Amino acid sequence: MPKKCTTDISGFGNRLVALRKAAGFTQQELSHKLGVSRRMIAYYEGETEHPPTTILPRLAQALGVSADELLNGSGRREETSSSHAVAEYIHRLRPNRETGTTTIYPMEHGAKRKACVREVYHENDIRIVEGDSRRAMAQIPDNTFQCCITSPPYWGLRDYGIAGQIGAENDPDAYIADLVGIFREVRRTLREDGTLWLNIGDSYTSGDRRWRAPDKKNAGRAMSYRPPTPKGLKPKDLIGVPWRLALALQADGWFLRSDIVWNKPNCQPESVKDRPTRAHEYVFLMSKSESYFYDFEAIREPSANGQEAKNRRTVWNINTNGFHGAHFAVFPPELVRVCLLAGSNPGSTVLDPFFGSGTVGLVCREYGRECVGIELNPDYVKIALERIGETNPTNLASPHAR
Ligand SMILES: C[S@@+](CC[C@H](N)C(=O)[O-])C[C@H]1O[C@@H](n2cnc3c(N)ncnc32)[C@H](O)[C@@H]1O
Repeated sequence: MPKKCTTDISGFGNRLVALRKAAGFTQQELSHKLGVSRRMIAYYEGETEHPPTTILPRLAQALGVSADELLNGSGRREETSSSHAVAEYIHRLRPNRETGTTTIYPMEHGAKRKACVREVYHENDIRIVEGDSRRAMAQIPDNTFQCCITSPPYWGLRDYGIAGQIGAENDPDAYIADLVGIFREVRRTLREDGTLWLNIGDSYTSGDRRWRAPDKKNAGRAMSYRPPTPKGLKPKDLIGVPWRLALALQADGWFLRSDIVWNKPNCQPESVKDRPTRAHEYVFLMSKSESYFYDFEAIREPSANGQEAKNRRTVWNINTNGFHGAHFAVFPPELVRVCLLAGSNPGSTVLDPFFGSGTVGLVCREYGRECVGIELNPDYVKIALERIGETNPTNLASPHAR
């Protein structure tokens, strides 16, 4: 009788760990030797349930499914009735999904059309583009925007397995390099007197722990995976992402004008007993040129003695009043309002290349500015469409309105 031919893969991870250690390799050394990421080795060793980000989108693409389907089977999220309406709206708005012939922004003559970048909303004041900011911005002419107000994903917070996503890079240097590239495009598309208002938060190294239970108090804070401790850092180190990024942007040509501390009086409690609870993030004010548009009068703050309002200080006390439909930290409208009033004139155009749930668009609409928002994740595009549709409900009934 022929032998039953089955492969025992259950012990594969353990065997790999044992053999790697016996050979004297760390995960990092083995990954270098093979020319693959360290997360790839961690994945094979069973430390992480998700395959490394770099390979997941390519696998999904090769198999003709979404990354979500590949990871979770049919596990799509429940849709609300309004998200059905939005999905239908997006569908109608895309005249040719297969060839992607929807233009996104007044295109430069001869520019190539990219199938993965689609304009999904276009009113007189707001345009929403679904796709990777890098590709979307490549089609936007120089000197278009008066300011950019944005908040990129934190490093190491979530891995959605969407090709082009920022934040799931293997180490902070790669993340910062990606952001420097995106903000170089932002600088090109800013007017000469333009400014960038960049909100960015910090995080701690994981100490090589891979998983953390979902954060029930705050879904936006929850980690869906934990990257390895970056080279040169120790477990529990504060990574210093904001300043690493700010200095890299300065070296790339930006004028670093202000480090604004966004203090959150209602910050989330943390169960830590060996350091203070983090209650702030940064907003870096950067400019394209040495002199630039900055309306200091529009954002004066009250003085303590009730006398004349004084020049705005660098610590802004603004509560988070997050919109809870999204699984990440959304901008409080008040934070956007201050940046918008100082950085733009009514009627000018503002860019948010990480549009998320569309807060910058909402505040622009309220204050008479135009806005271009770019968002990679179709789920968040739907949320933004719902929020923006609510401020002008006729829009969703009229996809070609303009
Ligand atoms: C912190 S959230 C922005 C939240 C937004 N300020 C709000 O108020 O809702 C960052 C967003 O960047 C998006 N993103 C990540 N990589 C991107 C890319 N390459 N191009 C465009 N958007 C991207 C994420 O999907 C996420 O929605």
